[in-house]
Amino acid sequence: MNVRKRMNLFLGVLVLAGSLCAQTVLVSTPKTSLVLSAPQGGKLKYMYYGSKLTEADLRNFDVVNGQTRALGTIDVAYPEYGLSCPTETALAVKHADGNMTLQLEVIKSFTQKEGNATLTVIELKDKVYPFFVNVCYKAYQDADVIESWTEISHQEKKPVMLNQFASAYLPIRRGDVWLSHLYGSWANEGQLSQEPLTPGMKVIKNKDGVRNSHTSHAEVMFSLDGKPQENTGNVIGAALCYSGNYKLRIDTHDDEYHHFFAGINEENSSYSLKKDELFSTPALALTYSNEGLSGSSRNFHRWARLHKLAHGTTPRKILLNSWEGVYFDINQKGMDQMMADIASMGGELFVMDDGWFGDKYPRKNDSSSLGDWVVDKNKLPDGIEGLLRDAKKHNIKFGIWIEPEMANTVSELYEKHPDWVIKAPEREPVLGRGGTQVVLDLANPAVQDFIFGVVDNLMTSYPEIDYIKWDANMSIVNHGSNYLTKDNQSHMYIEFHRGFEKVCQRIRAKYPDLTIQACASGGGRANYGVLPYFDEFWVSDNTDALQRVYMQWGTSYFFPAIAMASHISAAPNHQTFRTIPLKYRIDVAMSGRLGMEIQPQNMTDEEKALCKTAISEYKTIRPIVQLGDIYRLKSPYDKQGVASLMYVTPEKDKAVFYWWKMEHFVNQHLPVVKMSGLCPDKLYKVHELNRIDNVPLSFEGKVFSGSYLMANGLEIPYNHRVDYHKQNDYSSRVLYLEEVNRKE
Ligand code: DGJ
Repeated sequence: MNVRKRMNLFLGVLVLAGSLCAQTVLVSTPKTSLVLSAPQGGKLKYMYYGSKLTEADLRNFDVVNGQTRALGTIDVAYPEYGLSCPTETALAVKHADGNMTLQLEVIKSFTQKEGNATLTVIELKDKVYPFFVNVCYKAYQDADVIESWTEISHQEKKPVMLNQFASAYLPIRRGDVWLSHLYGSWANEGQLSQEPLTPGMKVIKNKDGVRNSHTSHAEVMFSLDGKPQENTGNVIGAALCYSGNYKLRIDTHDDEYHHFFAGINEENSSYSLKKDELFSTPALALTYSNEGLSGSSRNFHRWARLHKLAHGTTPRKILLNSWEGVYFDINQKGMDQMMADIASMGGELFVMDDGWFGDKYPRKNDSSSLGDWVVDKNKLPDGIEGLLRDAKKHNIKFGIWIEPEMANTVSELYEKHPDWVIKAPEREPVLGRGGTQVVLDLANPAVQDFIFGVVDNLMTSYPEIDYIKWDANMSIVNHGSNYLTKDNQSHMYIEFHRGFEKVCQRIRAKYPDLTIQACASGGGRANYGVLPYFDEFWVSDNTDALQRVYMQWGTSYFFPAIAMASHISAAPNHQTFRTIPLKYRIDVAMSGRLGMEIQPQNMTDEEKALCKTAISEYKTIRPIVQLGDIYRLKSPYDKQGVASLMYVTPEKDKAVFYWWKMEHFVNQHLPVVKMSGLCPDKLYKVHELNRIDNVPLSFEGKVFSGSYLMANGLEIPYNHRVDYHKQNDYSSRVLYLEEVNRKE
């Protein structure tokens, strides 16, 4: 619902705390406050964002000449370009008459309840032109997150060109502020970078068009008190909820603040806004924690589970995906065998990956067939019915892979609709994967109908399909939409993502219970723009357990374990060719949404038995991992030879502790990892899961107080006590902690 419509639901004038003056707006979550100054006819100014203010603190927020009484200078909350703006701005336009300036003033503000949140809107208008901006804040009352975005409109006679349109701006007081953010590449997603903010401009951006989280991510954290710490210190987290190109800017020049801007990347995307059209920018989700980076992550995870992730509070099924097991070599018998194997190990779902479709052009490799979503009858003579029949026989669910936004030039779809693909006029298209891949033009409603139809046809024909893996393996590398007018070609990226969102909304409206994974050549779609429609994402095409420790560590900064698909795969690993023992591969996969991606036929009985035990143990800890609070303890990036994290239930009665050795030397000295997040007064019994040692750990079955475990930790042996021929250079532990009552 846009703000104009919402005005009909207008409930109150200003958000006022008893002690605030009439022009002060207070936006609150359970543990945080954001304060703005919004005098009618004056500038909207930012005054405070941080931990919850008391009544006494709030009294200091009266504004005198651009200064609060006690808190120093304050800044414009949504800086616009044109007048006194020698620095970075959030909004820059060209009016219908060519004027390049804006001068926004507060008209009024109001607040209203929206479910479990409070929506605050501050309406701004240009002093001269009929140009309007609503600055919106949605403050969740059951999670410490405030979403901030803008709604831009005008009533000028001709279109206004939006050249810059950030979602939000936040000034961050200088000091020893450090930035944590994720970067990477295909098969190396979610790498953590931590650096102090220094004078100059830091820009984090994406221009892929489709997959916006392979390389840099649209989420960041700011540690305000020096070098980032996991469990102490004040941290601001920010996540842009957008699936397309984005730009985050942090500008540090000659004043007291780091100036942080986040929004859609405007490069090659200036937007011609028609009279009365409403342009909504995607939300920037902000969180604040005084419990370090992990505290900020916990806030994001809770908000994600409750509000942002499809079925965020429903534990996920344990699955086998066929990709690394058989790649394109799909056939009826092979699928049946994989289903039998995962069922016998206790799995609950089988997902048939790429390679099952194509009639005139059967999908034998990645160079054809995308767009032709009909079963390849040569590979699967009994069709999807046959696969569903087999899944039922094995008492598991069935899922299927599609890549519906794409086509190959070798496909019946392309032969019928060459005009549906994104392509520059007068030029040959640059092609993608397999030398023939192209991206469909989602700006076109006919293409949107087609993509919706891909899912709809599958689901109406085979309602028993439980899970869809939705892949997207190409960037937008051509600029040109056949659907958009010549004047609006710069809207292509934005319209692609509007189209994508519309399709997702239609799918979710009709199939609310379907589980859908967002995959994009691995982790290309780990963002809060897509997650409202998806249950999880594929973290990376790289399933190497050692490298996954790094990738999953970084990804966990912003995304909860329930959303992070993490699979046990073969050794040697297919991406790194590293040989890692199964125990370690299991222990890493078990720290996310557990699955398998392997040909079970190639596993020994002993390996299958280990996986069977792990799956059964995972079922016990699944609610703790998937719904609990994360405490990251020892970072793999600190290169201390060990990485460790744990999940704790909100009641603090159960926890799972993970410990992975990251390198191996004789006589090395690893740190003892101290636990976190437990209740100091509770007693916990320790039990090792997935044990392979011949003898139990010295503390197996013993009871420790939370305070002991958090102050001292447990001495974990560096190696496994296994027979000589089973010794290797890897070592990992998963410990299950359960509260016992004092008499036990
Ligand atoms: C890329 C994905 O990331 C893989 O998991 C797999 O589904 C392939 N595409 C299939 O082509």
